[in-house]
Amino acid sequence: MERLYITDVCMRDGLQNQCAQVSTEAKLALAQHLVAAGVASVEATSFVSPKAVPQMADAADVVLGLQQRLPTLRTSVLVPNLKGLRRALQAGCREVAVVLSATEEMNRRNINMSLTQAREESALVLREARASGIKTRAYIAVAFDCPFEGATPLDRVKVLAAEMYAAGADEVVIADTIGSAFPAEVRRRMTELATVVPLDRLSIHLHDTRGMGVANAWAAIEAGVRRFDASAGGIGGCPFAPGAAGNLATEDLVLLAENSGFDTGINPVALVSAIEFAESLLGRPLGGHSARWLIRQRERAAQTSTEGIARLNVQNSTNSVSST
Ligand code: COA
Ligand code: ZN
Repeated sequence: MERLYITDVCMRDGLQNQCAQVSTEAKLALAQHLVAAGVASVEATSFVSPKAVPQMADAADVVLGLQQRLPTLRTSVLVPNLKGLRRALQAGCREVAVVLSATEEMNRRNINMSLTQAREESALVLREARASGIKTRAYIAVAFDCPFEGATPLDRVKVLAAEMYAAGADEVVIADTIGSAFPAEVRRRMTELATVVPLDRLSIHLHDTRGMGVANAWAAIEAGVRRFDASAGGIGGCPFAPGAAGNLATEDLVLLAENSGFDTGINPVALVSAIEFAESLLGRPLGGHSARWLIRQRERAAQTSTEGIARLNVQNSTNSVSST
Protein backbone atom coordinates (compact mmCIF):
# COMPACT_ATOMS: atom_id res chain seq x y z
CA MET A 1 0.00 0.00 0.00
CA GLU A 2 1.19 3.50 -0.72
CA ARG A 3 2.06 5.64 2.28
CA LEU A 4 0.33 8.90 3.10
CA TYR A 5 2.24 11.02 5.60
CA ILE A 6 0.26 12.97 8.19
CA THR A 7 1.62 15.59 10.56
CA ASP A 8 -0.83 16.21 13.37
CA VAL A 9 -0.88 19.93 14.19
CA CYS A 10 -3.46 19.94 16.99
CA MET A 11 -0.86 20.81 19.62
CA ARG A 12 0.12 24.00 17.74
CA ASP A 13 -2.58 25.11 15.27
CA GLY A 14 -5.19 23.51 17.51
CA LEU A 15 -4.23 24.91 20.87
CA GLN A 16 -2.82 28.31 19.90
CA ASN A 17 -6.12 30.16 19.96
CA GLN A 18 -8.00 28.32 22.69
CA CYS A 19 -9.25 30.40 25.58
CA ALA A 20 -8.58 27.64 28.10
CA GLN A 21 -4.93 27.67 29.14
CA VAL A 22 -3.60 24.14 28.69
CA SER A 23 -0.78 23.05 31.02
CA THR A 24 2.50 21.63 29.72
CA GLU A 25 1.70 18.31 31.37
CA ALA A 26 -1.68 18.14 29.58
CA LYS A 27 -0.04 18.94 26.23
CA LEU A 28 2.41 16.08 26.76
CA ALA A 29 -0.42 13.73 27.72
CA LEU A 30 -2.25 14.74 24.52
CA ALA A 31 0.86 13.85 22.53
CA GLN A 32 0.96 10.46 24.25
CA HIS A 33 -2.66 9.82 23.21
CA LEU A 34 -1.79 10.74 19.61
CA VAL A 35 1.22 8.44 19.54
CA ALA A 36 -0.85 5.61 21.03
CA ALA A 37 -3.15 5.96 17.99
CA GLY A 38 -0.16 5.69 15.63
CA VAL A 39 0.64 9.36 14.97
CA ALA A 40 4.34 9.52 14.03
CA SER A 41 4.76 13.23 13.32
CA VAL A 42 3.47 16.33 15.10
CA GLU A 43 3.85 20.07 15.05
CA ALA A 44 4.20 20.46 18.78
CA THR A 45 4.38 24.15 19.57
CA SER A 46 5.68 27.51 18.36
CA PHE A 47 8.57 29.69 19.47
CA VAL A 48 6.70 32.94 19.01
CA SER A 49 6.28 35.95 21.26
CA PRO A 50 4.47 34.84 24.44
CA LYS A 51 2.72 38.22 24.33
CA ALA A 52 1.30 37.39 20.89
CA VAL A 53 0.32 33.78 21.75
CA PRO A 54 0.34 33.12 25.52
CA GLN A 55 -0.67 29.47 25.02
CA MET A 56 2.76 28.76 23.47
CA ALA A 57 4.85 30.34 26.24
CA ASP A 58 5.95 26.88 27.45
CA ALA A 59 7.43 25.87 24.06
CA ALA A 60 10.84 24.83 25.43
CA ASP A 61 9.26 22.72 28.18
CA VAL A 62 6.96 20.97 25.68
CA VAL A 63 9.94 20.12 23.46
CA LEU A 64 11.97 18.84 26.41
CA GLY A 65 9.05 16.74 27.67
CA LEU A 66 8.51 15.18 24.24
CA GLN A 67 12.20 14.35 23.90
CA GLN A 68 12.12 12.58 27.25
CA ARG A 69 8.80 10.76 26.90
CA LEU A 70 8.40 10.24 23.16
CA PRO A 71 11.95 10.31 21.74
CA THR A 72 10.99 8.69 18.41
CA LEU A 73 8.14 11.09 17.65
CA ARG A 74 8.97 13.38 14.74
CA THR A 75 8.49 16.83 16.21
CA SER A 76 8.42 20.09 14.31
CA VAL A 77 7.98 23.55 15.84
CA LEU A 78 6.88 26.81 14.26
CA VAL A 79 9.33 29.73 14.30
CA PRO A 80 8.37 33.19 12.98
CA ASN A 81 11.85 34.73 12.91
CA LEU A 82 15.54 34.22 13.70
CA LYS A 83 14.91 34.76 17.38
CA GLY A 84 12.40 31.91 17.31
CA LEU A 85 14.90 29.67 15.49
CA ARG A 86 17.60 30.36 18.07
CA ARG A 87 15.21 29.57 20.91
CA ALA A 88 14.20 26.36 19.13
CA LEU A 89 17.82 25.32 18.58
CA GLN A 90 18.62 25.99 22.22
CA ALA A 91 15.70 23.77 23.20
CA GLY A 92 17.19 20.97 21.08
CA CYS A 93 14.59 20.99 18.28
CA ARG A 94 15.36 18.81 15.26
CA GLU A 95 12.83 20.37 12.87
CA VAL A 96 11.39 23.87 12.44
CA ALA A 97 8.68 25.43 10.27
CA VAL A 98 8.71 29.02 9.04
CA VAL A 99 5.47 30.78 8.19
CA LEU A 100 5.43 33.05 5.15
CA SER A 101 2.04 34.47 4.23
CA ALA A 102 1.43 35.10 0.55
CA THR A 103 -0.03 38.58 1.09
CA GLU A 104 1.21 41.87 2.48
CA GLU A 105 -1.52 42.37 5.08
CA MET A 106 -1.47 38.82 6.43
CA ASN A 107 2.26 39.07 7.13
CA ARG A 108 1.70 42.35 8.94
CA ARG A 109 -1.07 40.95 11.11
CA ASN A 110 0.64 37.66 11.81
CA ILE A 111 4.31 38.51 12.29
CA ASN A 112 4.44 42.31 11.93
CA MET A 113 6.55 42.23 8.77
CA SER A 114 6.01 43.35 5.19
CA LEU A 115 5.88 40.63 2.54
CA THR A 116 9.44 41.52 1.49
CA GLN A 117 10.71 41.37 5.07
CA ALA A 118 8.92 38.08 5.69
CA ARG A 119 10.45 36.55 2.55
CA GLU A 120 13.93 37.61 3.59
CA GLU A 121 13.51 36.52 7.21
CA SER A 122 12.01 33.14 6.26
CA ALA A 123 14.85 32.44 3.81
CA LEU A 124 17.41 33.43 6.46
CA VAL A 125 15.80 31.14 9.02
CA LEU A 126 15.74 28.24 6.54
CA ARG A 127 19.41 28.72 5.66
CA GLU A 128 20.49 28.98 9.28
CA ALA A 129 18.40 25.95 10.24
CA ARG A 130 19.95 23.90 7.45
CA ALA A 131 23.42 25.05 8.46
CA SER A 132 22.61 23.81 11.98
CA GLY A 133 21.75 20.41 10.54
CA ILE A 134 18.04 20.36 11.30
CA LYS A 135 15.06 19.68 9.05
CA THR A 136 12.84 22.45 7.76
CA ARG A 137 9.31 23.09 6.62
CA ALA A 138 8.06 26.32 5.04
CA TYR A 139 4.41 27.26 5.22
CA ILE A 140 2.96 29.41 2.49
CA ALA A 141 -0.06 30.73 4.41
CA VAL A 142 -3.22 32.16 2.80
CA ALA A 143 -2.18 30.36 -0.40
CA PHE A 144 -5.77 30.30 -1.69
CA ASP A 145 -7.49 33.36 -0.19
CA CYS A 146 -6.51 36.03 2.30
CA PRO A 147 -9.07 37.38 4.79
CA PHE A 148 -7.79 40.91 4.07
CA GLU A 149 -6.85 40.86 0.37
CA GLY A 150 -9.19 38.31 -1.22
CA ALA A 151 -8.07 35.71 -3.76
CA THR A 152 -4.31 35.10 -3.66
CA PRO A 153 -2.72 35.08 -7.15
CA LEU A 154 -1.43 31.59 -7.93
CA ASP A 155 1.63 33.03 -9.69
CA ARG A 156 2.70 34.67 -6.45
CA VAL A 157 2.22 31.44 -4.49
CA LYS A 158 4.40 29.67 -7.05
CA VAL A 159 7.16 32.26 -6.75
CA LEU A 160 7.13 32.08 -2.95
CA ALA A 161 7.03 28.27 -2.88
CA ALA A 162 9.96 28.10 -5.30
CA GLU A 163 11.85 30.66 -3.23
CA MET A 164 11.39 28.72 0.02
CA TYR A 165 12.39 25.50 -1.71
CA ALA A 166 15.52 27.16 -3.07
CA ALA A 167 16.31 28.48 0.41
CA GLY A 168 16.42 24.89 1.65
CA ALA A 169 12.93 23.94 2.82
CA ASP A 170 12.72 20.15 3.03
CA GLU A 171 8.97 20.48 2.76
CA VAL A 172 6.83 23.34 1.37
CA VAL A 173 3.41 23.37 3.01
CA ILE A 174 0.62 25.04 1.05
CA ALA A 175 -1.91 26.35 3.56
CA ASP A 176 -5.59 27.07 3.07
CA THR A 177 -5.47 29.11 6.26
CA ILE A 178 -9.11 30.21 6.28
CA GLY A 179 -10.59 27.06 4.72
CA SER A 180 -11.98 28.77 1.65
CA ALA A 181 -10.62 26.41 -1.02
CA PHE A 182 -12.72 24.09 -3.17
CA PRO A 183 -11.58 20.81 -4.74
CA ALA A 184 -11.17 21.96 -8.35
CA GLU A 185 -8.97 24.84 -7.23
CA VAL A 186 -6.97 22.58 -4.89
CA ARG A 187 -6.28 20.23 -7.79
CA ARG A 188 -5.33 23.12 -10.08
CA ARG A 189 -3.05 24.85 -7.58
CA MET A 190 -1.29 21.71 -6.33
CA THR A 191 -0.72 20.50 -9.90
CA GLU A 192 0.81 23.87 -10.81
CA LEU A 193 2.88 24.02 -7.63
CA ALA A 194 4.27 20.58 -8.37
CA THR A 195 6.04 22.18 -11.34
CA VAL A 196 8.19 24.28 -8.97
CA VAL A 197 8.48 21.99 -5.90
CA PRO A 198 8.85 18.20 -6.30
CA LEU A 199 5.68 16.38 -5.25
CA ASP A 200 7.45 14.46 -2.51
CA ARG A 201 8.45 17.79 -0.94
CA LEU A 202 5.01 19.35 -1.28
CA SER A 203 2.51 19.23 1.56
CA ILE A 204 -0.95 20.67 2.13
CA HIS A 205 -2.53 22.19 5.24
CA LEU A 206 -6.33 22.37 5.07
CA HIS A 207 -9.04 23.92 7.21
CA ASP A 208 -12.62 22.70 7.25
CA THR A 209 -14.42 26.04 7.62
CA ARG A 210 -16.89 25.32 4.82
CA GLY A 211 -16.97 21.54 5.23
CA MET A 212 -14.71 21.02 2.22
CA GLY A 213 -11.73 19.58 4.10
CA VAL A 214 -12.11 15.95 3.06
CA ALA A 215 -13.11 16.79 -0.52
CA ASN A 216 -10.10 19.09 -0.77
CA ALA A 217 -7.83 16.39 0.65
CA TRP A 218 -9.07 14.00 -2.02
CA ALA A 219 -8.39 16.57 -4.74
CA ALA A 220 -4.84 16.95 -3.37
CA ILE A 221 -4.37 13.17 -3.33
CA GLU A 222 -5.52 13.05 -6.96
CA ALA A 223 -2.98 15.76 -7.77
CA GLY A 224 -0.28 13.46 -6.33
CA VAL A 225 0.17 15.05 -2.89
CA ARG A 226 1.09 12.52 -0.19
CA ARG A 227 1.96 14.83 2.71
CA PHE A 228 -0.76 16.37 4.81
CA ASP A 229 -1.23 18.41 7.95
CA ALA A 230 -4.36 17.57 9.93
CA SER A 231 -5.57 18.07 13.47
CA ALA A 232 -7.06 15.42 15.75
CA GLY A 233 -10.64 16.36 16.52
CA GLY A 234 -10.40 19.17 13.95
CA ILE A 235 -9.21 21.56 16.66
CA GLY A 236 -7.75 24.65 15.09
CA GLY A 237 -7.87 28.13 13.71
CA CYS A 238 -5.60 31.12 13.54
CA PRO A 239 -5.90 34.00 16.02
CA PHE A 240 -4.69 36.44 13.37
CA ALA A 241 -6.87 35.28 10.45
CA PRO A 242 -10.55 36.15 10.99
CA GLY A 243 -12.84 33.36 9.79
CA ALA A 244 -10.30 30.56 10.15
CA ALA A 245 -12.25 27.72 11.74
CA GLY A 246 -11.16 24.20 12.62
CA ASN A 247 -8.59 22.22 10.69
CA LEU A 248 -9.20 19.19 8.54
CA ALA A 249 -9.67 16.51 11.21
CA THR A 250 -7.00 13.82 11.32
CA GLU A 251 -9.66 11.12 11.84
CA ASP A 252 -11.51 12.20 8.67
CA LEU A 253 -8.32 12.21 6.61
CA VAL A 254 -7.23 8.82 7.99
CA LEU A 255 -10.62 7.30 7.22
CA LEU A 256 -10.53 8.70 3.68
CA ALA A 257 -6.98 7.52 3.06
CA GLU A 258 -7.22 4.06 4.62
CA ASN A 259 -10.37 3.29 2.60
CA SER A 260 -8.80 4.54 -0.62
CA GLY A 261 -5.73 2.33 -0.73
CA PHE A 262 -3.30 4.32 1.42
CA ASP A 263 -1.55 3.44 4.62
CA THR A 264 -1.28 6.19 7.24
CA GLY A 265 -0.06 4.16 10.22
CA ILE A 266 -2.86 5.75 12.27
CA ASN A 267 -5.80 3.89 13.78
CA PRO A 268 -8.80 6.25 13.52
CA VAL A 269 -10.81 4.47 16.22
CA ALA A 270 -7.88 4.79 18.63
CA LEU A 271 -7.77 8.54 17.87
CA VAL A 272 -11.10 8.85 19.70
CA SER A 273 -9.26 8.68 23.04
CA ALA A 274 -7.07 11.63 21.98
CA ILE A 275 -10.15 13.60 20.95
CA GLU A 276 -11.96 12.84 24.21
CA PHE A 277 -8.88 13.88 26.15
CA ALA A 278 -8.73 17.17 24.19
CA GLU A 279 -12.44 17.69 24.92
CA SER A 280 -11.75 17.33 28.63
CA LEU A 281 -9.00 19.96 28.36
CA LEU A 282 -10.99 22.48 26.33
CA GLY A 283 -14.38 21.85 27.91
CA ARG A 284 -16.31 21.57 24.65
CA PRO A 285 -17.25 18.89 22.15
CA LEU A 286 -14.70 18.27 19.39
CA GLY A 287 -14.36 15.90 16.49
CA GLY A 288 -14.41 15.79 12.72
CA HIS A 289 -17.34 14.59 10.62
CA SER A 290 -16.50 10.94 11.31
CA ALA A 291 -15.95 11.20 15.07
CA ARG A 292 -19.43 10.07 16.18
CA TRP A 293 -19.27 7.07 13.84
CA LEU A 294 -15.80 6.18 15.13
CA ILE A 295 -17.08 6.25 18.71
CA ARG A 296 -19.78 3.74 17.71
CA GLN A 297 -17.12 1.50 16.13
CA ARG A 298 -15.17 1.58 19.35
CA GLU A 299 -18.31 0.67 21.34
CA ARG A 300 -19.06 -2.19 18.96
CA ALA A 301 -15.47 -3.46 19.16
CA ALA A 302 -15.62 -3.33 22.97
CA GLN A 303 -18.95 -5.18 22.96
CA THR A 304 -17.63 -7.82 20.57
CA SER A 305 -14.58 -8.41 22.70
CA THR A 306 -16.70 -8.58 25.89
CA GLU A 307 -18.97 -11.09 24.17
CA GLY A 308 -15.88 -12.93 22.92
CA ILE A 309 -14.46 -13.12 26.44
CA ALA A 310 -17.83 -14.25 27.78
CA ARG A 311 -17.97 -16.95 25.09
CA LEU A 312 -14.46 -18.07 25.94
CA ASN A 313 -15.37 -18.23 29.62
CA VAL A 314 -18.41 -20.37 28.85
CA GLN A 315 -16.28 -22.64 26.65
CA ASN A 316 -13.62 -22.91 29.34
CA SER A 317 -16.14 -23.76 32.01
CA THR A 318 -17.79 -26.31 29.67
CA ASN A 319 -14.38 -27.80 28.94
CA SER A 320 -13.53 -27.99 32.59
CA VAL A 321 -16.91 -29.59 33.32
CA SER A 322 -16.43 -32.20 30.60
CA SER A 323 -12.88 -32.95 31.69
CA THR A 324 -13.88 -33.70 35.26
N1 COA B 1 9.99 34.43 20.55
C1 COA B 1 9.84 35.11 21.71
N2 COA B 1 9.89 36.44 21.80
C2 COA B 1 10.12 37.11 20.63
C3 COA B 1 10.29 36.45 19.41
C4 COA B 1 10.21 35.05 19.39
N3 COA B 1 10.35 34.36 18.27
N4 COA B 1 10.51 37.39 18.49
C5 COA B 1 10.47 38.58 19.09
N5 COA B 1 10.24 38.42 20.40
C6 COA B 1 10.12 39.45 21.43
C7 COA B 1 11.22 40.46 21.40
O1 COA B 1 12.34 40.01 22.10
C8 COA B 1 10.57 41.64 22.06
O2 COA B 1 10.49 41.41 23.44
P1 COA B 1 10.43 42.63 24.50
O3 COA B 1 9.16 43.36 24.23
O4 COA B 1 10.43 41.93 25.82
O5 COA B 1 11.65 43.42 24.22
C9 COA B 1 9.15 41.55 21.53
O6 COA B 1 8.93 40.19 21.19
C10 COA B 1 8.92 42.42 20.32
O7 COA B 1 9.92 42.13 19.36
P2 COA B 1 9.78 42.56 17.85
O8 COA B 1 10.94 42.02 17.09
O9 COA B 1 9.54 44.04 17.76
O10 COA B 1 8.53 41.74 17.41
P3 COA B 1 7.08 42.21 17.03
O11 COA B 1 6.40 42.90 18.15
O12 COA B 1 7.14 42.87 15.72
O13 COA B 1 6.37 40.76 16.87
C11 COA B 1 6.54 38.41 16.34
C12 COA B 1 6.85 39.83 15.91
C13 COA B 1 6.80 37.53 15.15
C14 COA B 1 7.47 38.03 17.48
C15 COA B 1 5.08 38.31 16.81
O14 COA B 1 4.27 38.94 15.86
C16 COA B 1 4.63 36.89 16.99
O15 COA B 1 5.10 36.17 17.85
N6 COA B 1 3.63 36.47 16.22
C17 COA B 1 3.05 35.14 16.39
C18 COA B 1 2.50 34.67 15.11
C19 COA B 1 1.78 33.37 15.28
O16 COA B 1 2.05 32.54 16.15
N7 COA B 1 0.80 33.16 14.40
C20 COA B 1 0.04 31.96 14.40
C21 COA B 1 0.71 30.88 13.66
S1 COA B 1 0.85 31.13 11.94
ZN1 ZN C 1 -3.81 26.31 10.06
